[in-house]
Amino acid sequence: MKKSIVSTFIIMLILPFYSLAMNIAIFCSGNGSNFQALVNSVKKGEINAHIALMVCDNPDAYALKRAENEEIKSLLVQTKAKSKDEYEEEIIKNLGQEKIGLICLAGYMRLLSPQFVQKYRNKILNIHPALLPAFKGRYAIKDALDYGVKVSGVTVHFVDEKIDNGPIVLQEEVQVYDNDSEEALAARIHQIEHQLYPRAIKLFVDGKLKVEGRKVKIEPEFNPVQQFNGIAGYSSFPCKGYFFSVS
Ligand code: GRF
Repeated sequence: MKKSIVSTFIIMLILPFYSLAMNIAIFCSGNGSNFQALVNSVKKGEINAHIALMVCDNPDAYALKRAENEEIKSLLVQTKAKSKDEYEEEIIKNLGQEKIGLICLAGYMRLLSPQFVQKYRNKILNIHPALLPAFKGRYAIKDALDYGVKVSGVTVHFVDEKIDNGPIVLQEEVQVYDNDSEEALAARIHQIEHQLYPRAIKLFVDGKLKVEGRKVKIEPEFNPVQQFNGIAGYSSFPCKGYFFSVS
């Protein structure tokens, strides 16, 4: 009896945090390795969110298979059969149905219309495989290599009306080596992407990002693991943005 009262009390304490989980949509066109990294991060409880929808414009994208494996709803947009206005309307309808609070572009190769961006202003993130504003566009890794830079990297930014242009959330450097191949550099960039994107998304869903013009202010993260390391008796669970991983 006592035990069940205690469990009910604990469930009542934890439940509101879970019910506040934000619904996320991820847009992909290709492999979907970033999609997978985000799914894994949510599954591990690192991000207090629910991946409710995957939007894809390419019927051959491996990302679709990943969504199927993860039992995540996917929407394959008919970009050939419909006008941009029509297919974006269809996407917007689905985003509304799923009550999406954040859109993450992860290798989505289509430019969103100004109306779309306007509707989701400061609620769309993108990941780019270079240190913006250098090497915008779809060939960023090759362009950086051909230019001969010694350092490239990864940028997560909000999406505005222009390509790879919105306010920057996080960036991380990646060294470029002499004799680097595009494949080798891309592999190291992807590794960083798979850590940086979940971090940026966590900051967003925890309400820690404030956009002021071109600048994104980041509220400091409260990390009880660092501050109270060594307290016994807790297992890992997410609690509205904080990670309790104390052993
Ligand atoms: C990533 O390099 C990302 O930066 C860029 O497109 C690529 C997508 O890769 N926008 P994946 O489909 O997530 O593997």
